[in-house]
Amino acid sequence: MSAFLEISNVSRIFGRTLNTGEKIAKRLGAHVETRAVRAVSDVTLSIRRGETLGLVGESGCGKSTLGRVIAGILPPTTGSVTIDGAPVMENGKKVTTRVQTVFQDPFASLDPRMKVGETVAEGPIAHGLTTKSSARSYVAGWFQRVGLDPVWVDRYPHQFSGGQRQRIAIARALAMQPDVLICDEPVASLDVSIQAQIINLFLELTNGLDLTCVFISHDLSVVQHVSDRVAVMYLGRIVELGPVAQVFGEPAHPYTAALFGSVPKLVLDADELVRFDTIEGEVPSPLSPPSGCYYHPRCPLASDICSATQPATQPVSDVRAVACHHFERQLAIGAASEPLKIPAKPVSGG
Ligand SMILES: Nc1ncnc2c1ncn2[C@@H]1O[C@H](COP(=O)(O)OP(=O)(O)O)[C@@H](O)[C@H]1O
Ligand SMILES: [Mg+2]
Repeated sequence: MSAFLEISNVSRIFGRTLNTGEKIAKRLGAHVETRAVRAVSDVTLSIRRGETLGLVGESGCGKSTLGRVIAGILPPTTGSVTIDGAPVMENGKKVTTRVQTVFQDPFASLDPRMKVGETVAEGPIAHGLTTKSSARSYVAGWFQRVGLDPVWVDRYPHQFSGGQRQRIAIARALAMQPDVLICDEPVASLDVSIQAQIINLFLELTNGLDLTCVFISHDLSVVQHVSDRVAVMYLGRIVELGPVAQVFGEPAHPYTAALFGSVPKLVLDADELVRFDTIEGEVPSPLSPPSGCYYHPRCPLASDICSATQPATQPVSDVRAVACHHFERQLAIGAASEPLKIPAKPVSGG
């Protein structure tokens, strides 16, 4: 397995800048929260050329922050990202065009006063991928590839539908001839029927252009459709990684199982069947993460070790890894065709 996109020990901490009111309050002796948010915590991933890695997890777990670090939009606090051995950023600045991004809201990234063809041409002209005189036909070629009528290069953003605007955003990213594409919730704002079209376009393009891709989505069916492997994030950490069919079919981390609603039936006591379709409890604040395994306060398998010790990432097989003290038990639950009996905690008054 030769890795192409290497994410090495990446962490990203956001400092808190106090607003004027908070500064005054602090000077007057009030308690003001000044702790930093650890949005991404020591993430290491190797992605093969041509592979699509899905990135999933609840809102606020750090997916976008990690995506922006990989894309060179946001410098990591520590760690590094390289493509084919070359760094994406140096001294806090992006130094490559080999990675490009497609975001959820294409309208926000298009200048309403510019013809869309001009917007798409800007980057390629600036980086010598085309010239001013040939830019129009260069861009028209990309329009055609993403299923847009090439004559539309002279139109303005408001003249397009949401799905068409996302095609323009995809054309804009691809016109930079990247090797790596970071897609952050690229279909989340589209109607379901349009989502399918854009996903099919995405599959066609990534295969045809041999693109390496990180595909961020909270929609597991979308991720299942587009990804080769999937990484599951929880509070800034990767808790499980592996081929999408295996991770979805037989989760090794209780969080993954809860996320996919795939824990069959946990018999907690004789009369009580509990399904973990939905995840119990709130995501803890990244300002004050729990001790040990970050997931333990919500985890049905948690024991003493889970609150005491952060689980190391360990192999499940040659192609899978998990950070859980009880992954073998989780796998056994997933594999059980019959409801698995786990010892019930004594219920008070019962
Ligand atoms: N620019 C920022 N400044 C401060 N905190 C941020 C910033 N961006 C993200 N965060 C915090 O980092 C954490 C992860 O956010 P994000 O990466 O957007 O998660 P996701 O994309 O999974 O929803 C959240 O707690 C969020 O509030
Ligand atoms: Mg996000």
